[in-house]
Amino acid sequence: MEHTRRNKIVDLLKSKEIGSEVLVKGWVRSKRGNKNVNFIALNDGSVIHTIQVVAEVSNFQEETLKLVTTGSCIAVKGILVESVGQGQSVEIQARGIEVYGSADAESYPLQKKGHSLEFLREIAHLRPRTNTFGAVLRVRHAMAFAIHKYFNDHGFYYLHAPIITGSDAEGAGAMFRVTTLDDKNPPMLPDGHVDYAQDFFGKETKLTVSGQLEAELGAMALGLVYTFGPTFRAENSNTPRHLAEFWMIEPEMAFYDIHDDMDLAEDFLKYLIRYALDNCIDDLEFLNKMYDTELIARLHQVVDDKFERLSYTEAVTILKASGQQWEFPVDWGTDLQAEHERYLVEKHFGKPVILTGYPKDIKAFYMKMNEDGKTVRAMDVLFPKIGEIIGGSQREENLEALLKRIHEMNIPEKDVWWYLDTRRFGTAPHAGFGLGFERLILFVTGMSNIRDVIPFPRTPKNAEF
Ligand code: 4AD
Ligand code: MG
Repeated sequence: MEHTRRNKIVDLLKSKEIGSEVLVKGWVRSKRGNKNVNFIALNDGSVIHTIQVVAEVSNFQEETLKLVTTGSCIAVKGILVESVGQGQSVEIQARGIEVYGSADAESYPLQKKGHSLEFLREIAHLRPRTNTFGAVLRVRHAMAFAIHKYFNDHGFYYLHAPIITGSDAEGAGAMFRVTTLDDKNPPMLPDGHVDYAQDFFGKETKLTVSGQLEAELGAMALGLVYTFGPTFRAENSNTPRHLAEFWMIEPEMAFYDIHDDMDLAEDFLKYLIRYALDNCIDDLEFLNKMYDTELIARLHQVVDDKFERLSYTEAVTILKASGQQWEFPVDWGTDLQAEHERYLVEKHFGKPVILTGYPKDIKAFYMKMNEDGKTVRAMDVLFPKIGEIIGGSQREENLEALLKRIHEMNIPEKDVWWYLDTRRFGTAPHAGFGLGFERLILFVTGMSNIRDVIPFPRTPKNAEF
């Protein structure tokens, strides 16, 4: 069969060119039929739907049709015809079939439908071929694209923060070490520590937990910047909302205060969700039907509702008065857990919530202190089903105040001299936030485990693929 340009199934299903010759290439989802005719459901990843290929048995060699099994990859040349069957408007009358690769019915793990998500995690190399993961991965792509589009349209510059870092200052989580030293016999210092001066970078290096500190450097020159890259946290938290490797979007804006920061976060999230509704509706309808029948309604609601804004202190008062039994007791000064965040969002307000004015002791060193000396200009955006989806703040731009916090928190000044330079030379008020990309995808797809919204999840004891 000659390799002319293939037609994508997404286009053919909308095509009005009945009678035209087409060429499709994809993976067989199922084959049924009788001794006269075979019906092949073919998917090529361009859309959740399959196109039906009708093959008259007498037109083909028996061996060819035998190789067309569930999971096999084939090319089909044929004529696009109107479909008489239910559920599709067009189908393909096959004239020629080329089998690129069969898939043995006995051993192909996706032979049957309806596997559990847990099982599919064990075959992460094949799960993109299921309807569910096809839908999730297309939505994930659309959201990545929409993020770049939003920022580009709003005058932000994409700044690439490093993945390997010599800085441990952010303090957002335990870090993975990056080294080329001999693991059996590393050079040692007399005091018993490894001599990282002999390591690749001449110092101890780690995988980054956040691109924020570098984004701040960019914002102090370009005004509006964002990072969008992988970040790594070595916490042993086995929850449905934590990954050891996740992607984060971190805009950083010169001349923004905490209110501008919240306005941007709300507008940004609403834009992304609206983008998904406008561009991914086939996939969302599938996910709505299979996993979460309130998904699309919830997405519309978040786009329409004004997010509730209140202080941490007010939130703690509400939580204490709620009469709920908490797994983690809540009191002023404690960090809020997902159960508290979700109570506020789902039960108390019934819409997304932005909390501000957190106690300084549970937040990072760089957040701007409020006049009370106890709370900082932090803001967390809390979402239904997710809890915290965004964490951000106005930054401390005053050198003396920042130094005071750094000393209080025992951060060595020599580790952040370059960061402090932004406050020494042309400091400016600024703010930013971090959106967890996979938490966004969890929300938009209605999936309930973060392992199912990234192609190859990295979690404690799991890095197979
Ligand atoms: O709240 P976090 O730790 O904030 C920062 O890292 C700041 N530097 C952001 C900034 O101001 N530029 O993380 C931000 C977001 C969280 O709200 C959450 O959505 C996500 O990142 N996140 C995780 N997502 C998946 N797995 C994890 N282990 C995550 N930890 C944080
Ligand atoms: Mg946070």
